[in-house]
Amino acid sequence: MPVQTCRWHEFDNLPGLEQAAGEFILHASKQAIATNGAFRIVLAGGSTPRNIYRQLCEVDTDWSAWNIYFGDERCLPVRDPERNSRMARDVWLDRVAIPSRQIHTIPAELGPEAGALRYARELAGVGDFDLVLLGLGEDGHTASLFPGAAWERAETLPAVIPVHDAPKPPAQRISLSPERLSRARHVLYLACGDTKRNAIENWRAGVALPASRINPVSGVDVFMCV
Ligand code: 6PG
Repeated sequence: MPVQTCRWHEFDNLPGLEQAAGEFILHASKQAIATNGAFRIVLAGGSTPRNIYRQLCEVDTDWSAWNIYFGDERCLPVRDPERNSRMARDVWLDRVAIPSRQIHTIPAELGPEAGALRYARELAGVGDFDLVLLGLGEDGHTASLFPGAAWERAETLPAVIPVHDAPKPPAQRISLSPERLSRARHVLYLACGDTKRNAIENWRAGVALPASRINPVSGVDVFMCV
């Protein structure tokens, strides 16, 4: 497996990181829309992106060109406040004019296997993403790719994988695979809080983590405030 190229960006405070992340996203969107007339972005789950998404409501862009995907989803009812898609909709997606047909939520309410199959079909016609946003867990997980889980032992993986044993509740999830997350022009990690410091240190020391398995040709950018 080729060595992951990481560009590490350290921020003194969270607002500074959030502003820089918003600028990074907007720049990627302008580049994609100017080149292809469309912007395909994969959203990170968890709590870190919340304010970044909220700030995106104010940007000046052609929302009709934005296509939203998710890197993972928790197997909960559609309107459950713990769903990654619920958070993104509440603070951002339902507040801007992205056409609803262009918001591709993962049907995790169907359960891991059925939801993963359905989303894999939805992604079948989608090429490389323009930008993939990812969070980082304290154990080095990203999306719903957890260390020591079944996906790590698989010879081959489908683009979208069912997860049954997530140590971060809920146990049942759906995640894009490392390979599918790597098919992107840009990958931006967001890691905030001292609980992520150990994972960052291990990652930078070359310890194999799920986060180090995302390996786009252009390398990854890691925005951290730890
Ligand atoms: C999830 C996320 C997960 C998250 C990290 C960081 O469903 O929880 O996909 O990968 O990004 O656990 O979460 P925080 O941003 O809340 O620290």
